[in-house]
Amino acid sequence: MTKKPINVVVVISGSGSNLQALIDQATAININITGVISNIASAYGLTRATNANIPTEVVDHTQFADRDTFDTALMATIDRYQPDLVILAGFMRILTPAFTKYYTGRMLNIHPSLLPKYRGLHTHRRALEAGDKEHGATVHFVTEELDGGPNVIQAIVPVVKMDTEASLMEKVQQKEHKIYPQAVAWFAEGKLKMEDNKAFLMGELLPPTGKRLSDDDNE
Ligand code: GAR
Repeated sequence: MTKKPINVVVVISGSGSNLQALIDQATAININITGVISNIASAYGLTRATNANIPTEVVDHTQFADRDTFDTALMATIDRYQPDLVILAGFMRILTPAFTKYYTGRMLNIHPSLLPKYRGLHTHRRALEAGDKEHGATVHFVTEELDGGPNVIQAIVPVVKMDTEASLMEKVQQKEHKIYPQAVAWFAEGKLKMEDNKAFLMGELLPPTGKRLSDDDNE
């Protein structure tokens, strides 16, 4: 590979299994994870980062008076790692418009539903309660609208009778570990862009669902 890897910062709150997928594929997808930041000091993702020799920081939201001051501190911390792309991977805080505006077009999120279905929390429970036959995950650009920025890629999982919240989460996360590195790889290659609140892949407007990971794309 001749192109220089892009610098990314991964922002987490928890286990960091998506972070792990990115760590494992970093060379293949041409990224350099310059820092991992968590708002929760006990997040296991911080251990994953340390094990991979990636610098970590904690910006504890409980130490700030309000969202604005927390987001300002988080931005300053992120920027010290000079990212070309900010990757939210299980980061469980709502962001202020100032924050989302500042990183427009250079911040991605992964959400455990087939957006625009089930923005917000408890997505697996809501899919089960609705009797959905399909559920999944979406990678999207982050905009001011919560879980509402343009979609980049989705993966679908079938919902079967036996499924529980836990089994559904497990199936969805397995797909997440494929679609997030894929989306980041496109960004690193310069193929994925956001303009005018729309996502483009190789210059082509993506459909509202984003790309779909099909079963044949599963390598
Ligand atoms: C992932 O399933 C991700 O989709 C979800 O949190 C999990 C984090 O897992 N994100 C959200 O719910 C964002 N609203 P991980 O820490 O093992 O990557």
